[in-house]
Amino acid sequence: MPEIKFYKHEPIPMEMHKVKVVQQLHLLPARERLAKMRAAGFNTFQLHNADIFMDMLTDSGVNAMSDMQVAATMHADDAYAGSETFFVMRDKLEEIFGTPYCLPAHQGRACENILATRFVKPGNCVIMNYHFTTAKAHITRVGGHVEELVKDEGLVSKSDLPFKGNIDLQKLEACIQKETPENVAFLRLESGTNLIGGQPISYENMKAATELAKKYGILTVLDASLLQDNLYFIKIREPGMADKSVREITRMIADLFDLVYFSARKFGFARGGAIVMRDEALFHSMEDLIPMFEGFLTYGGMSVREMEAMTVGFDESMDMDVISQGPQFIQYAVNQLDAYGIPVITPGGGLGAHLDCLDFIPHVPQQQYAACALSCALYICGGIRGMERGTLSEERNADGSERLASMELLRLAFPRRVFTLSQTEYVIDRVKWLYDHRDLVGGLRFVHEPATLRFFTGILEPIGDWPEKLTEAYVAEFGEDQ
Ligand code: F0G
Repeated sequence: MPEIKFYKHEPIPMEMHKVKVVQQLHLLPARERLAKMRAAGFNTFQLHNADIFMDMLTDSGVNAMSDMQVAATMHADDAYAGSETFFVMRDKLEEIFGTPYCLPAHQGRACENILATRFVKPGNCVIMNYHFTTAKAHITRVGGHVEELVKDEGLVSKSDLPFKGNIDLQKLEACIQKETPENVAFLRLESGTNLIGGQPISYENMKAATELAKKYGILTVLDASLLQDNLYFIKIREPGMADKSVREITRMIADLFDLVYFSARKFGFARGGAIVMRDEALFHSMEDLIPMFEGFLTYGGMSVREMEAMTVGFDESMDMDVISQGPQFIQYAVNQLDAYGIPVITPGGGLGAHLDCLDFIPHVPQQQYAACALSCALYICGGIRGMERGTLSEERNADGSERLASMELLRLAFPRRVFTLSQTEYVIDRVKWLYDHRDLVGGLRFVHEPATLRFFTGILEPIGDWPEKLTEAYVAEFGEDQ
């Protein structure tokens, strides 16, 4: 389906679906939102969903399912062992990736646990284009360390480069030689690189990087959780790819890697995960870990209903009408925010629009968790829940000092097929108001700081009374009931 053209109206992205089931939303007044934020310890993860108007925390497990997915859940085959549903899912993954072997796991980080437990020994290195929080946490948990070799340009917030997730090939070879190939547990490339703004990797870069790894006998792993966005970008941005089908591109990518894993809370529009591969010996090397951590080998901790929905979702991820929705809505939001002069990561990637907090609120230092502070401010100013992707999401250095994130971002995720364009406009409008009142935003400090993945459960407090002042300015602008 081509992009819809308009006669008089400016081009806008079109929803390629119609709404059949809805959930009502409620907008609490700003002063109540302030109270909820306080109760949530200035951490958007701790808010209750009922108190949120626009939940843009993540796309994980909250993408809308299609009618076909819901229908598929009705014919799921429930069995502890040997569920037909599993074999249908495994066959679909083989059809798409060319991988006959499948280890099911309840979500993406469960796959990461299996991979780290099996392949990473103390002192080992895992090389990546960029880390994802849970992938890194599992690797460091077993005594490994991570080298992130995304090209320098990937960390520049304003850019028009099409593939900011690309790994630096020179640094990759130098790193392999420095670490020695035997000490590199695996090369992990993350499609739709999450923490740098959902930025894609080109097919060409994946090919060159995996060839290098193979030259040194290093195992290659693709994190395909955000592959659907990356596929869209390869097809529309990479020279020579426009004429290839999404299925062809997917197969070309999968052929490059020894292992592919994914969170089906993202890839497949449901809730689950899996590791797939062509090699039988690799499969056997990990299969004992599935019953130990996840569940029997034919469900891996997932409900069979979710597995049926995932299987349909995999097919939908091969459809340009479906996978173009997220990136097109995100690009629309990014263009509008950019036109207002708001610091936002460009070009728009997949997953969400990302505000660059170092430029948005330069007066709030990273040590005061600028991205987290902005996420709290945006909830107060509109009931919009985003996710901090910055210093709070890092772990401290061994000596207890803060590890400052290379990018201090507030992510506004676009769960697929969930929000309409008018809701998108509301978000842009409230971000603009907040930008015009950015001087009112201050910093945060910890009250309770967990040792690992502190961004999930940490409790913070504002430094000063900035949240009250911000709330009153908002009420003066929009009234008491907004
Ligand atoms: N890899 C990537 C690239 C991810 O984005 C995620 C999850 C995971 C692995 C872990 O998968 O959540 O199923 O255990 N990202 C979510 C997010 C949490 O909000 O971006 P999971």
